[in-house]
Amino acid sequence: MTLPPINTSQLVSRAYRGAILHALAKDELVYLADGVLLVDAQGMITACGPWLEWQEALAGVAVIRCLANQLIVPGFVDTHVHLPQMAVAGCQAPSLLEWLDTHIFAEEARFADADYARTISEWFLSELLANGTTLANVFLTSHPGASQIAFETAARLGNRVVMGQTLMDKQAPDSLLRPAAQLLQETESLCRQWHGANDGRIQYAWVPRFALTSSEELMSGLGELRRQYPEVYLHTHLSEQLGEIAAVKAQFPWASDYTEVYERFGLLGTRTVLAHGIHLCDGELTRLKALDASLAHCPSSNFFLKSGRFRLMEVLRRQLRLGLGSDVGAGPTLSLLTVMKDAQYMQADTLVPLATLFYLATLGGAEALHQGHRLGNFEPGKEADFVVLDFPATPVSHDKPSVQSPGTSEALLSRLVYQGHQQWISETYIRGQRVYQRAPIVQN
Ligand code: GUN
Ligand code: ZN
Repeated sequence: MTLPPINTSQLVSRAYRGAILHALAKDELVYLADGVLLVDAQGMITACGPWLEWQEALAGVAVIRCLANQLIVPGFVDTHVHLPQMAVAGCQAPSLLEWLDTHIFAEEARFADADYARTISEWFLSELLANGTTLANVFLTSHPGASQIAFETAARLGNRVVMGQTLMDKQAPDSLLRPAAQLLQETESLCRQWHGANDGRIQYAWVPRFALTSSEELMSGLGELRRQYPEVYLHTHLSEQLGEIAAVKAQFPWASDYTEVYERFGLLGTRTVLAHGIHLCDGELTRLKALDASLAHCPSSNFFLKSGRFRLMEVLRRQLRLGLGSDVGAGPTLSLLTVMKDAQYMQADTLVPLATLFYLATLGGAEALHQGHRLGNFEPGKEADFVVLDFPATPVSHDKPSVQSPGTSEALLSRLVYQGHQQWISETYIRGQRVYQRAPIVQN
């Protein structure tokens, strides 16, 4: 499946009128039952406010009117996901390490074939857009050729991504391993080519898979690259399962905890994104906060692999940078709508405020990826990344029988979190350009 290239003639100044919801902070939402979002020719937000206040000023401007059952929200941010696991999402195994051995490494090895890499890259990156994900932090495979194909595909489809070649030099099948020196060279060369590409939509990350597949030579080389390129991300896994943590303890006996392994090699700091962090102790959380590292909470994956319960309320209380991740393929779906619901259900005894879940899926994710100053909500001056959602029609309505209005902001957000589904995504925009539109349903 190949999508056509983006038509830049779509870049005209537009006004989108409809119900609008966005987050200003973890506990502060703005809801406009009849609002308008103004986007300039460069795809930047010029204003967002009540229609009645803007109506007069907008005489002569093309206004796109959303339907009564639609809602405009900021694009979703997936802070941790694996492109090469798309085809094996939902294949279960008893533990993380067995799942990697049984399903994942064999699938990732298939990316040595350029045609396969191209097919899955196109599928994955277009599915991100179909799920309303306008920024994703993405693991690739260890093949530089397949990584190159993924970057080219993202540039062609218009995705906003942070991505990097996955680096492993031990404890995986030989076909996925390379000597540390070669990996460091390959990843630096990809970084030089792609960091900041497609007018800033594409960013690069150093991606050591996790401590168990990384030699000390690889990690110290990456520490050096981090010093050399402070604007580049580092993305890895941390403290996901007890079996993994025990293996890390055995492999790095000098480290007092898992966090110290990465810390020792200079891998932690601003722009480090750590997936999971389920079993972190208080001391590790304190150090991660002091270092300004970000966490990616992936509840759907944590349910699937039975990894444990993330200390969500404690991490929020400590104000670490935090976003949500689908973690496909340990997570079964790319939908951040489903991930929000799972984040709620994961907390057994606490009702997580709906506003917080919505913040984490949008602005919180953007802040975790250090892009909150330009994305994540509808403040003027930010880039217009947004999604038009359809609330499904019901045969009954509380007021007018023919209009399925989403209702009050609290009810609407609650339905979004508990019932929201990929099929609700009608259109997706990145920097004002439409990058996805759901095909109309043909009635026979
Ligand atoms: N830890 C190391 N590799 C992986 C992976 O691919 N997925 C998850 N969930 N955890 C990991
Ligand atoms: Zn992962």
